[in-house]
Amino acid sequence: MSTTEDKHHEKHQPQAEIDEVTNDQLLQGHEFDGIRELDNQLPPWLKYLFYASIVFAASYLTLVFVFEDDRVIQAKEYQKEMAAYIEEEETAEEDEQATPVERTQEEIMASGEATFSKICSVCHGKFGEGLVGPNFTDEYWIHGGSREDMHEVIVTGVIEKGMISYKNLLSERQIQDVITYIKSLQGTNPPNQKAPEGEKYDPEPQEGAQS
Ligand code: HEC
Repeated sequence: MSTTEDKHHEKHQPQAEIDEVTNDQLLQGHEFDGIRELDNQLPPWLKYLFYASIVFAASYLTLVFVFEDDRVIQAKEYQKEMAAYIEEEETAEEDEQATPVERTQEEIMASGEATFSKICSVCHGKFGEGLVGPNFTDEYWIHGGSREDMHEVIVTGVIEKGMISYKNLLSERQIQDVITYIKSLQGTNPPNQKAPEGEKYDPEPQEGAQS
C-alpha cells in the first residue's frame, strides 16, 4: 500500500523510522503495549481551523481582560440593557403624562371598549344594560354619574356587592378610557335593560365637554 504521499514523507525525513506495512513515518518516543502511531499530517482544513481558533481566543481574551469591552462582559451588558429599559419606561411614562390629549377619541373609545368587554361586561352586560351590576345606559347611578364618582367606584370597588377594586388591574389611563366608554353608553337603549337603580344624575355643563 505504498503511495506517492508515503514516498514524499520519506524524501524529507530519511532518518525517521518507517512502518513496514504502510511505509509511513512512525511517531517517535511514544509506544504503548508495542503499538506505535503513524506520524500523519493533519488535514489542512483542520489545521487552519485550529490556527483560526487561536487567533480568535487571543482577540477575545484581549477584549475581555484588556479592553473590558461591553459586548463581552455579561454584567456590563446586563446593566446597559437594564438602564436602557428603565430609561425607555420612564420616557414612555413621561410621554403618557405630558401628552394625554394626543390620542384620538377613537383610540380612547377602542381602549375603553376593550377593557369593558374583557372585564366589566361579565357583570354589567355586553352593552352595559346591566346584569349583576347596574345598568350603565340609563341616567340613574347608585354612586353618582360623574367621572370622579365612577373613578372612585372602579378604584375602591364595592366588595360587598361583588365589584372588586380595579386599582391594581387597570392603569389610570385604562380606567379613564373605560369611564369614557361607559359614559358613551348612556341613552343607547339596549334590549333586556336592568331597572334603574340609584339617583338620577344630571351632568353639569362642563361634564359633557370633559368626556
Ligand atoms: C363581578 C361583577 C362585576 C364586575 C366584573 C364589574 N362590576 Fe362594576 N359593579 C358591580 C356591582 C354589583 C355594582 C353595584 C355596586 C352597588 O350596588 O353599590 C357595580 C357598580 C359599578 C359602578 C357604579 C355604578 C353606579 O350605579 O353607581 C361602576 C362605575 C362600575 N361598576 C364600573 C365597572 C367597571 C369599569 C368594571 C370593569 C373594569 C366593572 N364595574 C366590573 C359588579 C361588577
